[in-house]
Amino acid sequence: MVRKLAAGNWKMNGTRAALEELQALAQAHSDPAVDILICPPATLLMSAAELVSGHPLDIGAQDCHTAPSGAHTGDISAPMIADCGATAVIVGHSERREDHNESNDLIRAKAESAHAAGLTAIICIGETLAQRDAGQTLDVIADQLQGSTPDGATGVNTVIAYEPVWAIGTGKVPSLEQIGEVHDFIREKLTARFGADNVRTIRLLYGGSVKPANAAEIFAVPNVDGALVGGASLTEADFSPIIKSLE
Ligand code: G3P
Repeated sequence: MVRKLAAGNWKMNGTRAALEELQALAQAHSDPAVDILICPPATLLMSAAELVSGHPLDIGAQDCHTAPSGAHTGDISAPMIADCGATAVIVGHSERREDHNESNDLIRAKAESAHAAGLTAIICIGETLAQRDAGQTLDVIADQLQGSTPDGATGVNTVIAYEPVWAIGTGKVPSLEQIGEVHDFIREKLTARFGADNVRTIRLLYGGSVKPANAAEIFAVPNVDGALVGGASLTEADFSPIIKSLE
């Protein structure tokens, strides 16, 4: 059994005042039975990492550049993220694939850069509604998974997050059968590529409108090893019951 992971993606939300929610979260989970990760905006990375120091909570970033340093105005690199005290970074979120035209090749390079810096890469994949309606879901997932995941992926350095684009921030959630179908498919593909021993430990998260009310049933789906939560990770009041559902 792998240890489950409750990850929160704050996206472009939160000023220093939001650290109070992180503080409350740390106080509410002094001995969690699952891993807890919060990915605040880059502006809060260092303060957040300092705040959770000594608590069983980890901090991650939401993106990184492929290069460790250089002339890339506005970007931050994986070594910089590690230097802040963070341990993970999300790469390939659909909002970045769409807003910044990120390709699978670029995302794989970002994940490799994360690995080189000792960070866990949380690689996001997921189909749009049009792709689902066209019956292309598994083809899209296979393509993104193969193209975005580095050859050096292990259970320690990589987490895969399945986030159907149409479920993100919409309140729409796939059926449990649909979630199960995609997670089983991802597991099969990873097993074929990396072998059963390694792949068992690569955690597969579901993301997209996870709330306290639907978390438990989603977490009961086989091959769901946790969640990547957006809106409901912004407050301790919403995120704590989701964490509890995983325990
Ligand atoms: O990365 C998490 C995310 O995209 C899901 O967002 O707000 O639907 O939980 P949300």
